[in-house]
Amino acid sequence: MKICVFASGTGTNFKAIIDSIKKGYLRSKINLLISNNPNCNAVKIAASHGINFEIISNQLYKTIPQKELARIFLKILKKHKSDFIVLAGFMKFIPVEVVNKFRNKIINIHPALLPLFGGKGMFGINVHRAVIKSGVKVSGITIHFVNEIYDEGRIIFQKCCNVTSNDDEFTLQKKIQKLEHKYYPDIIKKFEDRKIKVREDKVWVS
Ligand code: GAR
Repeated sequence: MKICVFASGTGTNFKAIIDSIKKGYLRSKINLLISNNPNCNAVKIAASHGINFEIISNQLYKTIPQKELARIFLKILKKHKSDFIVLAGFMKFIPVEVVNKFRNKIINIHPALLPLFGGKGMFGINVHRAVIKSGVKVSGITIHFVNEIYDEGRIIFQKCCNVTSNDDEFTLQKKIQKLEHKYYPDIIKKFEDRKIKVREDKVWVS
């Protein structure tokens, strides 16, 4: 697959995928990073690994209509011949035209067990803070298809970990990151091997 990663922040998941390709575990190539933040670490990682990147700035998001934004995304994706999109901490909405064009070819990772602790404002450390505050005893990761509704696409994979009395949002984040960096490349590999089957409203991984 020719993967385009969308990322806005630290880029540790982006880096984990790059490493899996370097090691030969994944056969895909990352041919593009799209970010809204030119100063984020993910962009630095792309630059230092010779990966093309394109910025769709927050300013652009604010000033042009969604249809126009979609055209820009699709033009960039076409130019780089990307055929699969991996969201790795991308903090902006994806125009619906992009979702439609990449139906079942666009995935996201969320640092909790959806459908709990998802939705507006639930990203990064906010999620872990909400998990700790709620008193639940397990959390984990969810890898899911992206659809029109934030955090509501069909679930592909989940893995859980314990939340103990010693955990705060930062220790929980560390535990979750470990799971993310292992299982996101694993699931991308399942796509490469055509082991992800979408049947009506359910997804099966073999
Ligand atoms: C990851 O923990 C990812 O699950 C989360 O953002 C972090 C990005 O970290 N995504 C969301 O919260 C989406 N709702 P990274 O930049 O180090 O990969």
